[in-house]
Order: sequence, then structure tokens, then C-alpha cells
Amino acid sequence: MALFIDSSDPKEIKDLYAWGVLSGVTTNPLIIAREAPDANLAERIREILAVSWGDVSVELTTESESAMLDEALQYHAWNAERITIKVPFSETGLRVLHQLVKRGIKTNVTCLMAMNQAYLAALAGATYVSIFSGRVRDMGYDVRPVISTTRNVLDREGLASKIIVGSMRHMMDVNEALEAGAHVPTVVPPILRKMVWNPRTIETIAEFNDAWRNRGSKKK
Ligand code: E4P
Repeated sequence: MALFIDSSDPKEIKDLYAWGVLSGVTTNPLIIAREAPDANLAERIREILAVSWGDVSVELTTESESAMLDEALQYHAWNAERITIKVPFSETGLRVLHQLVKRGIKTNVTCLMAMNQAYLAALAGATYVSIFSGRVRDMGYDVRPVISTTRNVLDREGLASKIIVGSMRHMMDVNEALEAGAHVPTVVPPILRKMVWNPRTIETIAEFNDAWRNRGSKKK
């Protein structure tokens, strides 16, 4: 099991990595455009690499096979061990994926909404297949069977791809993804922080610490 952070903010990533629960980072062009519209991509990714460990997914933004391949090789050169090329799923995406797999480059096939798509990406040898929980639910479908059937097929067929579940909107999405068989939930920082928070925990710790501070003050 692993938990990834879905962010491109080096400060947040550094803070949250200090908890010892994260082992990878996922980014996408929308996240980077929102968080750092003026950033130089290479510098931003280098900053992320410096404050994290594990795989860092960087998504392709070009759309033709040759441009995608060039872009992928450029990102791969930044850190051959850790950069994972996020390949948007399509017929062209599958061709690019196949080229990257043949070169032994780590891949994360993204924007998946259905088991059949994840299955194809896994057959082609993707390191990760990313199912988009919130976006599946936005269409009015239950994402849990998408995750569980994908997991069942991968396990049954002995396919090595790991299922990332992203596009999480609520903490409950994380719980359900884990229960349905996700190998790796990827969560935005606010959701990760919500996973810590529980009012009864806070109240209980306060009760214990108050008791300790006030010990001996009510001697019979
Ligand atoms: C996952 O890898 C994606 O970066 C992300 O979770 C997409 O989420 P969104 O639907 O909020 O854009």
C-alpha cells in the first residue's frame, strides 16, 4: 500500500512528507496551471523532487505521438529513477505508452473512467493506471465497481500495474477507494489534513493533558 500527494506545491509537499505517510507525488497540467501559472516546469519539478521521495508523475501536454514521445524523454531525463510519465489515455496515448514501456520508463496512464481502459493500459505495461473517482461520480456513476473490477482483473490476470485513484473530492472517497481495492490513493493536501482530524480525538487529548496539568490540585 502507498499514499501519494496530488499537488505541485513544494512547500505543502515538504510539510506533508514530514508525516512519514507519503511515498509519491502526482501532478497534472491543471494543478500546475492553478498553483503556479508562471512557474518553469523543470524548476518546479526539481523543487518537488528535492523535498520528496518516490515516484513523481509529470503529465504530457502535447498531443501527437512524436511530440508526446519527445516530451516524455525530456521529463525522463530530469530524473530517470523517479520521474513517472503521465500518459493521457487514448489510441495515441497507448502508442506512446508502448514506446515508453519498451524503453523501461515508468508510466502512469491517466484520465481513466472505466475498467476496460485501465485493462488496456495494464496490458500495455503501465506502471500505474489512474482512475478518476470524482470525475466518474460527476457523470452520475458509482466509481467503486470501476475500482474493484479493475483490481479483480489485474489480480486474476497477473498484471503488474498498480491502481492509483485520484480526483478525490471528499475524505469518504479515499476510504471507499481503499476498500474497493485501490493500491494508491492520491489526495490533495486539504483531504489529507481532514484524514487526521476528529473532534473526539482532540477532545480526548485535551482531557488527558488537562488532567496531567491539574494533577494533585484536588487532593482530598
Ligand atoms: C490524479 O492523478 C489527478 O492529478 C487528479 O486527481 C485529477 O483530479 P481532478 O478531477 O480534481 O482534476
